[in-house]
This record gives sequence, C-alpha cells and structure tokens, in this order.
Amino acid sequence: MAAIALIQGASRGIGLEFCRHLLLKKSQVTVVATCRYPENAVDLMGLAAQNSARITVFKMDVNREADIKDTAEIVEKTFGKVDLVINSSAMLHPSGKGETSLKDVSAQGIISTLTTNTVGPLVMAKYFAPLLLKGSGGFGQQPPEKAKQHSGIIVNMTAKVGSIGDNALGGWYSYRMSKAALNMATRNLSIELGRGRPKVVCVSLHPGTVNTDLSRPYHRNIPENKLFSTEYCVQCLMKIIDNLSMEKTGKAFAWDGSELPW
Ligand SMILES: NC(=O)c1ccc[n+]([C@@H]2O[C@H](COP(=O)([O-])OP(=O)(O)OC[C@H]3O[C@@H](n4cnc5c(N)ncnc54)[C@H](OP(=O)(O)O)[C@@H]3O)[C@@H](O)[C@H]2O)c1
Repeated sequence: MAAIALIQGASRGIGLEFCRHLLLKKSQVTVVATCRYPENAVDLMGLAAQNSARITVFKMDVNREADIKDTAEIVEKTFGKVDLVINSSAMLHPSGKGETSLKDVSAQGIISTLTTNTVGPLVMAKYFAPLLLKGSGGFGQQPPEKAKQHSGIIVNMTAKVGSIGDNALGGWYSYRMSKAALNMATRNLSIELGRGRPKVVCVSLHPGTVNTDLSRPYHRNIPENKLFSTEYCVQCLMKIIDNLSMEKTGKAFAWDGSELPW
C-alpha cells in the first residue's frame, strides 16, 4: 500500500510546496492535504485537479478540535493509516508582524498565536497518533532491530527564534513563545509515542528563512542568498525526513541537518 503523507496547512508557502514535492518526487506516496479554506486555496486545488488519483484535500481549521477529529475519522476510513504528518500551519502574529517590544504585546495576540502555532499541532497529534501507530513506516530509515523501528513520523514546523538557548535579540514574544512551547510538545510526544511498540518519531524542523507570506514583512532585511525558495527549503527538509529514525526522535533540526539547541 502507498505511504500516506498528511500535510496540515497546505494552502500556501512551505505546506503547499511539500504537497508539490511529494507528488513530483515520490511516486509511491499518497498525499492528504488539509487547509481551512479550500475554496480560496487556488494553487492547492489546481495541484489536486492535476493529480486527482494521488492527493485528497480536506477542509480543516487547526484551531477547531472538532474539525481535526472529523478529519482523522475520514482519513482512517479512507486510508486506514498515516505514515507522516507535517504540521506546517502557523502565523507570526495576527497583525502580520512580530512584537518589537512589550508595548506591542496584547493578550489576544499571544492567545491567537499560541492557539494556531502550538495548540493546533498538539491536538493534531492527539487525533492522528492512533493512525500513525498503524502506519507502515514508509518514511525515514528503519534499523534492522524490530524494537527500534517506527510506524510513523510527526514533523512540527518550528523556527530557530523559538530556541531559548539561541535567543540573543528578544522581541517577537508571541511567535517565539509559541515555537518554544511547540518544541516542548514535540519532546513530550517523542517520549509518549516512543515508549511502546510500534513507535512514532517526533521532531521539530526549522526551514531557514523562506520566501513566503509569513516572512514577507522582513524580506528587505535579508541578504538574497539567505532567503530560500520554498523548493530549496522543502528539498532540504525532505532529506532530513528521509533520514529520520528513532535515534533522532525528540530533537529539533535546522534545514541543513544541524541540531538546534532548545
Ligand atoms: N517562512 C519562513 O521564513 C519560516 C521561518 C521559520 C519557520 N517557519 C515555519 O514554517 C511553517 C510554514 O510557514 P510558511 O512560511 O509556509 O507560512 P505561510 O506561507 O504564511 O503559510 C501559513 C499557512 O498556515 C495556514 N494556517 C494559518 N492558520 C491556520 C489555521 N487556523 N488552520 C489551518 N491552517 C492555517 C495558512 O492557511 P490560510 O491560507 O488559510 O491562511 C497557510 O497555509 C510555519 O510553521 C512557520 O512558523 C517559516
């Protein structure tokens, strides 16, 4: 049976590029793409129309637990399992720009950012872990020992600015806090889903600074060679995913494969 990859937050940016990449480069993979407004996701729906045998799009708002539960039920009925979940959706801040100082902080801004960037991926894990435990280990590297093999992989898209150890600049309270907390969720998940058999590999991945809507307000401050295309970023991240195993679970990696400090 085909390996099933679920891309959550697939309407634009890096999530959309993961769908394109998997359809183009991995002929044995079936893609489940989720987004909150398929009716507005013109590029994703175009991709789905051209590859209708290999990609299914579901409407799912990651802030709505009922949507996630319903989608997990439909995916289970349709495919019976999932091999890879990539949580790509996120926002920088509802205003589109990170806070530069305390005076920009608002309770509602922080709550919205954490709801989408942190709570959403964790609730995804709650409903999709049972499907990942039924996966066939179609992504990553499997060691010969059965006890160390995994059935599925969860990738939470993090950001280097969520690293507490790396934070020398300050600012961006909501986004930094949301990604630091997401990293803790990744670590917790790796422990819970690494205990039994089968096991699920759980990692946080930082894509670099990528040319998408999320980073757009800051593009003019970034040297051209430091602003990655979505194609390059996904190539790098897929190389990391292809080499994941239980030895790497519970960690955060950057696009170049280096481990990020928490
Ligand atoms: N771009 C960078 O430089 C960069 C750097 C570090 C980390 N990252 C991380 O990489 C990931 C992808 O970012 P990106 O650059 O591709 O961002 P993007 O182009 O701004 O796309 C964000 C995606 O999140 C979706 N989304 C937002 N709220 C949602 C919700 N409630 N339910 C479902 N989907 C929702 C958006 O859907 P709609 O179309 O419906 O709005 C869109 O598909 C994020 O986790 C981001 O934090 C990006």
